[in-house]
Amino acid sequence: MPEDGALPGHALAGAAGRPLGFYLHVPYCATRCGYCDFNTYTASELRGSGGALASRDNYADTVVAEIRLARKVLGDDPRPVETVFVGGGTPTLLPAADLSRMLAAIREEFGLAPGAEITTEANPESVDPRYLAELRAGGFNRVSFGMQSARQHVLKILDRTHTPGRPEACVAEARAAGFEHVNLDLIYGTPGETDDDWRASLDAALGAGPDHVSAYALIVEEGTQLARRIRRGEVPMTDDDVHADRYLLAEEALTAAGFRWYEVSNWATTEAARCRHNELYWTGADWWGAGPGAHSHVGGVRWWNAKHPGGYAQALTEGRSPGAGREVLAAEDRRVERILLELRLADGCPLDLLAPAGARAAARALADGLLERAPYEAGRAVLTLRGRLLADAVVRDLVD
Ligand SMILES: C[S@@+](CC[C@H](N)C(=O)[O-])C[C@H]1O[C@@H](n2cnc3c(N)ncnc32)[C@H](O)[C@@H]1O
Ligand code: SF4
Repeated sequence: MPEDGALPGHALAGAAGRPLGFYLHVPYCATRCGYCDFNTYTASELRGSGGALASRDNYADTVVAEIRLARKVLGDDPRPVETVFVGGGTPTLLPAADLSRMLAAIREEFGLAPGAEITTEANPESVDPRYLAELRAGGFNRVSFGMQSARQHVLKILDRTHTPGRPEACVAEARAAGFEHVNLDLIYGTPGETDDDWRASLDAALGAGPDHVSAYALIVEEGTQLARRIRRGEVPMTDDDVHADRYLLAEEALTAAGFRWYEVSNWATTEAARCRHNELYWTGADWWGAGPGAHSHVGGVRWWNAKHPGGYAQALTEGRSPGAGREVLAAEDRRVERILLELRLADGCPLDLLAPAGARAAARALADGLLERAPYEAGRAVLTLRGRLLADAVVRDLVD
């Protein structure tokens, strides 16, 4: 990774035809949830490492410095930004003015496309009507709340600090503040969660009136507190059959409420309610990820930043790129990546992307009812509902 972050000339070839997005990572949380292995730090985890540079107080300035570096690296690339997604961590631990200041730097340096989608993630306990109104006034038009569950005992296993009912109130507050699009993130398959608990979470989420819902099977990540608790036998592991049943319950409840899936874990009420930022990742567009540990992709070049907020800020303070490493994707890597990502979409992936072994696997998946017949006959691999339940396995077979 060159110190100035310069890209090889070929990365910007054909850029005009690809949308450009920004991801801004905010690596701070008030407390760490036992299941989470995202690159985020509590105040006590940061104490003694990174000093003032790693602190929340300076963070917006540091990210603005990276946005200015992005402008230099992308040179006279004239594209305005189509999507901005502020994620974490807990972006809403920062003052709303800091989030708006980072967005303003993107607007100044690149310009925002008309109708650009500007999202922030928010933890339900960290916002109030005033905070949301400030974000809206700063230019945000979409907010994604980490609801996870409506049941207290499930929230407790997940170490969530908000109370049941708070995420639903957040949706109402966001609508009152003028947010056009509101997402709720849910997690299913938490140890101790029953089918009834999950149904109650879906009902509560849908009752709140979001236009987008993400529902993720709980992943027990190695090295997390939850993994240790499961290993010690303190909490039971959820099995795959339970995950499949919960997914079917989600599909049923969401479809009945007028939502349609557009990616295996994502449902929206209309096409306009889909998360365009995530679609940009899934379709191999260009995005600049700012912040510690953030990944970027421009024209087949992928790079990632220093992981720790201290080292990240140090680089930018010294006028260097915070990039820690990069790779240039070969044509074969890009083909495999396209299959991995596009097969999870409701639009599916073109069959002509598949190698001979993958094409034979697709024919078997069709016979097994894992791929839809009509799109297959029109040259595309699209998962059936049963295929979605087994998405990881189908994808593995088709990339052969
Ligand atoms: C990393 S969080 C960041 C946003 C915010 N701090 C929050 O917790 O809502 C984004 C989403 O990732 C999902 N997530 C994080 N860790 C997960 C895991 N181990 N298994 C499944 N989903 C997970 C949660 O649904 C969460 O809302
Ligand atoms: S609040 Fe979100 S980012 Fe922070 S530890 Fe919990 S799940 Fe991870």
